[in-house]
Amino acid sequence: MKYKDILKKMTLEEKISLCSGVNAWQTKAMDRHGIPSLFMCDGPHGLRKQDIDGDNDMLGINASRPATCFPTAVTTASSWDTDLIGQIGEAIATEAIAYDVGLVLGPGLNIKRDPLSGRNFEYFSEDPYLSGKLAASFVRRAEEKGVGTCLKHFAFNNQEYSRFNSDSVMDDRTMREIYLAGFEIAVKEGKPSTLMSAYNKINGVHCSDSVMLLKDILRDEWGFEGMVVTDWGGMHDRIKAFKAGCDLSMPGGSDYMEKDVLEAVKAGVLSEEDIDACANRILELVFSKQRETKASYSFDEKGHHRLAARAAEQGAVLLKNEGILPLSENQSIALIGHMAGAMRYQGAGSSHINPTHIVNPIDAMPNASFAKGCDIRGNTDSALLSQAVKLAKEADVAVVFAGLPNRYESEGFDRDDLKMPEGHIRMIESVAAANPNTLVVLLCGGVVELPWIDKVKALLYMGLPGQAGGEAIANLLYGRVNPSGKLTETWPIKYEDCPSAGHFKGLKNAQYREGIYVGYRYYDKAGVKVRFPFGFGLSYTSFDYSNIELDGNRVRVQIKNTGDRPGAELVQLYIKPPQDGLHRPVKELKGFAKVMLEPGQSKSIDFLLDDRSFAVWADGWKIQKGTYTILVGPSSVDLPLSVTIEKDGHLLAAPSWQKGKWYESLEGRPSQEEWEAMLGRKHVEDIPKKGSFTMNNTMEEMRPHSLVMKLAYKRVEKNIIKFNGGKKDYDNPEFRMMMACSVGSPLRSMQISSGIRGELLQGLLDMANGHYLRGLKKILKRKK
Ligand code: BGC
Repeated sequence: MKYKDILKKMTLEEKISLCSGVNAWQTKAMDRHGIPSLFMCDGPHGLRKQDIDGDNDMLGINASRPATCFPTAVTTASSWDTDLIGQIGEAIATEAIAYDVGLVLGPGLNIKRDPLSGRNFEYFSEDPYLSGKLAASFVRRAEEKGVGTCLKHFAFNNQEYSRFNSDSVMDDRTMREIYLAGFEIAVKEGKPSTLMSAYNKINGVHCSDSVMLLKDILRDEWGFEGMVVTDWGGMHDRIKAFKAGCDLSMPGGSDYMEKDVLEAVKAGVLSEEDIDACANRILELVFSKQRETKASYSFDEKGHHRLAARAAEQGAVLLKNEGILPLSENQSIALIGHMAGAMRYQGAGSSHINPTHIVNPIDAMPNASFAKGCDIRGNTDSALLSQAVKLAKEADVAVVFAGLPNRYESEGFDRDDLKMPEGHIRMIESVAAANPNTLVVLLCGGVVELPWIDKVKALLYMGLPGQAGGEAIANLLYGRVNPSGKLTETWPIKYEDCPSAGHFKGLKNAQYREGIYVGYRYYDKAGVKVRFPFGFGLSYTSFDYSNIELDGNRVRVQIKNTGDRPGAELVQLYIKPPQDGLHRPVKELKGFAKVMLEPGQSKSIDFLLDDRSFAVWADGWKIQKGTYTILVGPSSVDLPLSVTIEKDGHLLAAPSWQKGKWYESLEGRPSQEEWEAMLGRKHVEDIPKKGSFTMNNTMEEMRPHSLVMKLAYKRVEKNIIKFNGGKKDYDNPEFRMMMACSVGSPLRSMQISSGIRGELLQGLLDMANGHYLRGLKKILKRKK
């Protein structure tokens, strides 16, 4: 153990104490042992550095220092550009150094399982290979700068509803092929200093306690040597977590289970070596990444702003263009929509940045006329519409800005549906009726239904494009930059088309019934029509694909720019495995490359495949013997080049449960019985009951059964209403988030996140379970 000399001098109590932070953002300094404190902060799209003496929070509500707000992952991922994402990692690390931050809490790479998930904007893709490669690049470049990174949320954290204690129930193969594969790539190739254990459980065990996840897979199998930190308030059972190697509990301030740990060591239930191992990993991080506080802060604000603009340009996806784009400088343009003047450029929650500068579309297109068309909440009325229609009629081209106002998507809660606000739809339809040359710029963090798509001539999807979004939009619309982004998630026509629709919404425990059939893996095999397929995106030029060659494990293809503008093409490689035996998707992404080409220019591109490109999880990674087709092209549904390859390997017969089940045909919906057949066990929901409530239950769950919890709930709600200026406003994402993260979080998380010492919540819990006297004693003891 590297720090054994220090550890030897520390008391057991000190070592246990070191394994929790000291406040919202710092590890504990221990002067007596020469241990400094390390500062960490969010987040994936820029730095959210809060002053420790001011108001701090894990929800992005209180102030933070100015930092570059890069586009969120939904946008950067659509660039499919590992180098660009690496540059963003490096720039965020540079800002971290300027602000004396040693560890950046990102990137996030959970799989976009269902488009309703409130936090999808923070994640890269529905595809693990792509997510892993992008995250690895961010991590590598940031770590090279000497700043620690943190892959989050490890793992199986794919919904916001009940996020603190929902159980993600799934089979091993789904776990490995879909939800762990991206982390595996990012850990092995990126070598992050840390990972963040997710709030939820995996098959009944909290991620913070999971030996399977944190020890067997992460450390023993993947060779991860860094530190694991809990998500904020995510520590479940500190004793089990020490055994699993969940090193640091954040935020600090409470004494959650510290006494229990001490007693467990004394009773021989937990070994001191387990604690030493965790403390040693914390010391390694602190000593290698901690930064001294400097007097002044500076970084290249202009350069980083320009990088943010470039990222938004590269990540924008042109979804439709009937000859209207690019615009020409001598056309008269009307910009319509509240978001043209105040674009939505980032998401709410812990990734929320205080930007150094903002360029809105109207700033970047000063010669265009502008009408609001709707209000900030997405509502409209006849006055707003008639003004918009008037301007649209007067202009050569009308550009409508629409999408999702911030109350629709946020950390902390899931979306109700995939609909855009009615006001936005009315605005688009009225403007399109007034001017046939209407196009839409969409600003939202994920999929929306587009019932109006046939009424407009073009659609440019910006995602949440960061502080320089306006600049990027102008450059793309005028063709100063040629769009090259491609979707990293499928856009279904309607929510009901999704493979998880029917077993996602409102389920506390997440039933991963669709198994490995997430995103295009489902739509392809089920033959369900989609609005826009995975990997799709248009350009102002055109490309030709030719000459596929296979040489051992190397695939070479030729791409030519056949249009009259320079442009970048994103070349995708998929592999179609044998379709007999064990059920498989029709094809899976196994390679991609972005290539910049001048008009008429050709380049050849090489892809290197390895065993994992062909493997399936069947109690270990195995290659099924048979014929594989390698497909290359511009999107998951347009793959003009193909070549086959024979692979020797295992004969993986269909397991006995598979015959006639949904997983072979993907017809209709997977039933609970079919899913249980795949899981190999029955799934029973456990319903919280009075008498057996634990620190793992929420006030929300307990209040229908307990007067004490009803009162406590009211009290917390009252405080949040007060914080919110006296308004009980469930339309305000911050209000909803605060409720979800307090009364909707388990008592243990409330204790940790609020830094509560003593047994106040344990006392309330006893009372909720009917043990009033015992509970009261605990509460009073605390007061003494
Ligand atoms: C989020 C994390 C974040 C942490 C600290 C949590 O609520 O889930 O992603 O890093 O807060 O802000």
